[in-house]
Amino acid sequence: MFIRQLGEKVGRSMVLMDESWTLRNGLEIPHRSVLAAMTNKQSYDDGCLSDEEINFLSRRARGGFGIITTAASHVQESGQGWTGEMGTWGDHHLPGLTRLADEIRQHGSKSFVQLFHGGMRSPSSLTGQQAVSASENFISDSEGTSRSMTLEEVNETIDSFAMAAKRCEDAGFDGVELHGAHGYLIAQFLGAKTNRRSDEFGGDVLQRMTFLNKIIDAVRNTVSSKFAILVRLSPVSDDTGISLEDTLKVCESLLSKSIDGLHISCWDVFEKHSSGKTLTKEISQFINQRIPIISTGSVWTGNDAHFLLEEGADGVGVARVALPFPDWPHSSASLDYSPDKPPFIPQMLTDAELSPLFVDYMRRWKGFVTDGR
Ligand SMILES: Cc1cc2nc3c(=O)[nH]c(=O)nc-3n(C[C@H](O)[C@H](O)[C@H](O)COP(=O)(O)O)c2cc1C
Repeated sequence: MFIRQLGEKVGRSMVLMDESWTLRNGLEIPHRSVLAAMTNKQSYDDGCLSDEEINFLSRRARGGFGIITTAASHVQESGQGWTGEMGTWGDHHLPGLTRLADEIRQHGSKSFVQLFHGGMRSPSSLTGQQAVSASENFISDSEGTSRSMTLEEVNETIDSFAMAAKRCEDAGFDGVELHGAHGYLIAQFLGAKTNRRSDEFGGDVLQRMTFLNKIIDAVRNTVSSKFAILVRLSPVSDDTGISLEDTLKVCESLLSKSIDGLHISCWDVFEKHSSGKTLTKEISQFINQRIPIISTGSVWTGNDAHFLLEEGADGVGVARVALPFPDWPHSSASLDYSPDKPPFIPQMLTDAELSPLFVDYMRRWKGFVTDGR
């Protein structure tokens, strides 16, 4: 009865939330749900994971997520974007990373570390250095402008991504997600507004993706073939200057690279692009099953999750709903599952393994915590 109900609702040959799927390198993901990266401010000043951060992620692995993605972690000390951020830039991070990978594996989820560099969004007040980017870009009145990276710095940063990925593999993770979304350094190189370089790293969109391409190649040359590489992109960004047309060119080009899946960050997967289609549909029709796609943004109910599968996503990314509802994957297979919406009382979040520090951070997300903003 339930399956028939799904069959009627889900057009694409009955893709179900609680079935497994595989990344391009053959890594089997046990469930369609993906815990999207969530910064949670719980790491120590030196970037080492705290027990609280490990418990938070491990609890969601126990909740049945197919993939657990860590918070964005900086691959260079100078690429840190905010306090309490997880790091992957040094070998001193290895014990914590190993413990986290072990915990996630124990619950059967696949584990991914999100790798990033903040670029012009790494405040000098935190790093003690002027922020760098693809070009000299205005940041804010207090931060001033970024400095254009020298070729040597670009190459060093590419190497840092590769070394960070190697640490993640050594720690026992299943893969990394290269954070090319949300206006951080990789996106700053991809965007026409933020990248006005005249060397091999600038030019048209395919030239602007040289930085990303070289990171992928460097990571792949450093890790084994069974270690998965995902790339997360913002399909459209006015701030950096990325159009959907550019993103489709980037996607086409990425297909020839040694990556195992794409993750698009939509913020609202229900919103229609000017073509009248959602971004997920636009991109999945273009990709036409040549590589698995994860899509994320404003999914809350079982019905929302199945809508996204029907739009062509292979993995359904969620962030906020997984905070109060760590067992979301178990219920998401049912179209009738409709968990409560925010705001949430702090106790409900601490009961779901968010530390007081993380709850306090969530008070900054409008309308999320009863006594927040
Ligand atoms: C508290 C919080 C922290 C986030 N941190 C990150 C991050 O570190 N990296 C990233 O790519 N996205 C980050 N995001 C964005 C989420 O991955 C996700 O794309 C976004 O929240 C939309 O999904 P949702 O509607 O299911 O929350 C964050 C979101 C939240 C709520």
